[in-house]
Amino acid sequence: MESNTKIPEHVSIIMDGNGRWAGKMGKERVFGHAEGVHSVRACAETAAEIGVKYLSLFAFSEENWERPQEEVETLMRLMMKSLSVELPTLLENRIRLRVLGNLSRLGDNLKKEIRKVEAASDLPDPRMTLIVFLSYSGKWDILQAAKQMASDFAGDPAGLAAATSDDFGKYLVTNGIPDPDVVIRTSGEMRISNYMLWQTAYSEFISVETLWPDFRKEAFLAALEEYSRRDRRYGKVK
Ligand code: FPP
Repeated sequence: MESNTKIPEHVSIIMDGNGRWAGKMGKERVFGHAEGVHSVRACAETAAEIGVKYLSLFAFSEENWERPQEEVETLMRLMMKSLSVELPTLLENRIRLRVLGNLSRLGDNLKKEIRKVEAASDLPDPRMTLIVFLSYSGKWDILQAAKQMASDFAGDPAGLAAATSDDFGKYLVTNGIPDPDVVIRTSGEMRISNYMLWQTAYSEFISVETLWPDFRKEAFLAALEEYSRRDRRYGKVK
């Protein structure tokens, strides 16, 4: 890594291209997802090593529930297995895990495992927080926030009128987590795909050609070099 590389506080990744990676090898799509778990580990390790405070990963969208049942089941199984296998590593490295999304749609066993790993890794002073977005969509997040806020302010129209965007942000599932500095999407796509629509208002967007199962330490560091070269102005003049 170059010595002048800026380390973002929050790096977010839209993991894409598992199916295409498997297809290129003449294998089933699920093989790509299994291989993708190794990239999750490589990126989490590298991010913690270089001082990233929050690494978030878009693992499964609300729309992904529409995929063939077999693929959905495999992804949920992989999630379940990764949670139990990785817990000791998370603890050894003082990494806190948060799983965010419409979790009411998940099976009971997976919900239980998520709660267990979240509670076990809920350290007071974590080195890094790893956030997995599961059954998540940006529109769902904004809508659930709006509904909760409307309900909280039902008897207080003056309070509602005075509410700021920071007040609204507290109702999103990412409450307490800084907005991503950078969103990296693998496999060459250049869409936000209903990810953190509110939170990415000023995130830098980086699209890399690498397919997710091939996105390991070197590719991750190269994307951060690219981020370092960006000039963030937040709509202002510097
Ligand atoms: C996108 O590739 C990838 C996904 C929808 C799933 C990502 C999930 C994992 C890597 C598994 C486990 C995750 C954790 C956090 C342990 P795609 O299927 O859309 O690929 P394609 O665009 O080539 O079809």
